[in-house]
Amino acid sequence: MIAFFYSILIVTLILGFYFTRRAYRSPKELELIPTVPIFKFAWIVLFNKGQHEIQRVISDSDTKKIGLVKIFLFSRWSVLITNLECAKVFFSENDDVLPKAQLPDNHPIKRFFGKGLPYANGKDRIRQQKMTIPAFNRYLNPEMIGECTNELITLLNKWNEFPLDIFTLMKRITVQTLGKLAFSYDMKALDSLEEEPYFLKIFEKITDLIQNPLYMILKFSYKLPLKANLELSQLIGEFDQFIYEIIEQRKLDIAKEKKSEDHTDLLANLIENIGDEYTIKNLRDELTTIFSAGHNTTAFALSSVFYNLAKYPVIQKKAREEAIQVLGDSSKIPNSENIKNLKYIKAIIKESLRLYPAAVMLPFRKVLKPLRFNQDIIIPKGTSLTLNIWQVHKNSNLWSDEFVPERFINQDEHENWIPFSSGHRICIGQNFSIMEQIVITTMILLKFKVSLPPDSQKFDKMPLTSSFYTLFPKDLRIIFSELKMSVKI
Ligand code: HEM
Repeated sequence: MIAFFYSILIVTLILGFYFTRRAYRSPKELELIPTVPIFKFAWIVLFNKGQHEIQRVISDSDTKKIGLVKIFLFSRWSVLITNLECAKVFFSENDDVLPKAQLPDNHPIKRFFGKGLPYANGKDRIRQQKMTIPAFNRYLNPEMIGECTNELITLLNKWNEFPLDIFTLMKRITVQTLGKLAFSYDMKALDSLEEEPYFLKIFEKITDLIQNPLYMILKFSYKLPLKANLELSQLIGEFDQFIYEIIEQRKLDIAKEKKSEDHTDLLANLIENIGDEYTIKNLRDELTTIFSAGHNTTAFALSSVFYNLAKYPVIQKKAREEAIQVLGDSSKIPNSENIKNLKYIKAIIKESLRLYPAAVMLPFRKVLKPLRFNQDIIIPKGTSLTLNIWQVHKNSNLWSDEFVPERFINQDEHENWIPFSSGHRICIGQNFSIMEQIVITTMILLKFKVSLPPDSQKFDKMPLTSSFYTLFPKDLRIIFSELKMSVKI
């Protein structure tokens, strides 16, 4: 027993020594780039100290403000870009130089998301973009979002004055709208708060399981017959059955719709225009990735909008006044013309995305050709590289840390505002997400006052978890109180 204990201790010490050496001894080519202290970083992540702390450590590491830091993550060195100048180099390169890092086909992440647009590279990506983007843009329709918001309003009336978990609530409305947009399908996400909609339940179980840290540390562990792996396989099978049934049903419905103008959703458009080129598996992958890229991000963005409106009552009042001025009737759904005039509300949305960019860190790219940054830094072939959007947005030389929507009134476009990324891999859902946020925020403001519960007034900043790629609120509740007098002009 004692011998066993000592063997474990010795192995742990050797591994600890090996990783500590590697974590502090970077490859020669990366020596000029400042290092994020890995133990401090790991401590913040492990004890869930929150995103503000993570970003503070990253920003403090770059003492000379060169716009790059390196970090020893998942047993290899990676470089994070933290300023606009270096981001421009990143955006100017295509998939031949900076492709998305690929996982083996049977890796749980690849098995679930498949070969959808966010995971494709090169010619495959261009072909998929050509098919998906026009099909997607055809259905950008505020009416459908407004109808879903009316369902949300009915739900909120039932929970008047009750502190509600804002992220859970916003995920429900984004899933509901995506269900309609993608397949004209009622996800039943806004029927009641007591029951979790099937789609969200299974999607979240799967995404929790595929983020198992074991898969990062022991790269082959997903192949072992572990309980978690078996459960994951069974859930992905169940999820696939759900999506395939929707696709088959939609195919039957489409056959009945006479003209292509009758189509009301992305799936119908893809089926009609793509024909045999796309297999049913391709359709499944495309829809799964659109759901995954589209619902959590916009749900988080809306959560931060409502957090900021609750935190700054003067801004909330001004936004409501604009909504009344533009719509004039509390039960109207904003149309495209109204949306153009809701400039202050759009500015609030943009400023919320600046302070809290939902996609905080882009997925890693693999450098396939040495890349020059600044005068004297060349990142060698084989390095993992990514962009930290939070740092670019918070660069103190350009912008302060205060919430000032007006900066987007005087000037709508800013080159260092990149929550949807930029370049050839810019988000295809940007216009949809902004429109969705404007419609939902405006319609809610006309019906409810939003506030923070008394016990959360202490929040100085939006409370966030220590997640890596996407931001998540940490136990954030918002109260929606029905406005006493129906807002009507
Ligand atoms: C506030 C909401 C959103 C944010 C902040 C956001 C952010 C981003 C970012 C930063 C990227 C680039 C990722 C990369 O370079 O790897 C991206 C890509 C993408 N987004 Fe969004 N997104 C949002 C909403 C949406 C919505 C609503 C959809 C669809 C319904 C969507 C679909 C996609 C897709 C398919 C890609 C992959 C594009 C490609 O690789 O060519 N996103 N998004």
